Amino acid sequence: MKILKRILLLLFIVFVGIQFIPTKMNVSNEVYKADFMNIYSMPKTISEKLVVSCYDCHSNNTKYPWYNKIQPVAWYLEDHIKEGKKELNFNEFGNYSVRRQKSKIKSIIREIEGDKMPLSSYTNMHEDAILNADERKELLGFFEMLKDSV
Ligand code: HEC
Repeated sequence: MKILKRILLLLFIVFVGIQFIPTKMNVSNEVYKADFMNIYSMPKTISEKLVVSCYDCHSNNTKYPWYNKIQPVAWYLEDHIKEGKKELNFNEFGNYSVRRQKSKIKSIIREIEGDKMPLSSYTNMHEDAILNADERKELLGFFEMLKDSV
């Protein structure tokens, strides 16, 4: 019993301790000229869905949930955002070479078709980010068309 209490106390101390380690937040008020939505035109339904479903991890501006104040959740999110942005940053899309843009559009199609994006660990907490069948069809149609015009 004594040992269990000690372990719990230790865990508690670690949990409290890690709350004081700062995380780097991904927030920005900048307007990006190279943003995907500035360089390509699209219906509002598409741009709004992309912001809600993809921009938290694939842009320089994340709308953080309240639980991001709690470690180790914040680290987990930070990691996803870092990885996601490295692969694809919609704010920087216009700075990509034409070749890279084309390849990213193809992988966006692949990810949506395979139902891999948005990540399910994310949609569990953000129901509004889920793509229903109609939305997927609309997004796929748009990106297929874009793929041939870039
Ligand atoms: C919760 C964070 C998160 C959200 C939301 C999210 N992604 Fe991602 N995305 C990632 C991460 C992390 C990676 C890199 C690792 C991987 O491929 O799983 C990634 C990778 C990608 C890639 C690159 C795959 C490749 O191999 O080139 C594409 C394309 C992509 N995401 C598209 C999207 C689209 C489109 C949406 C919205 C419909 C979206 N993502 C929503 C986190 C996210």
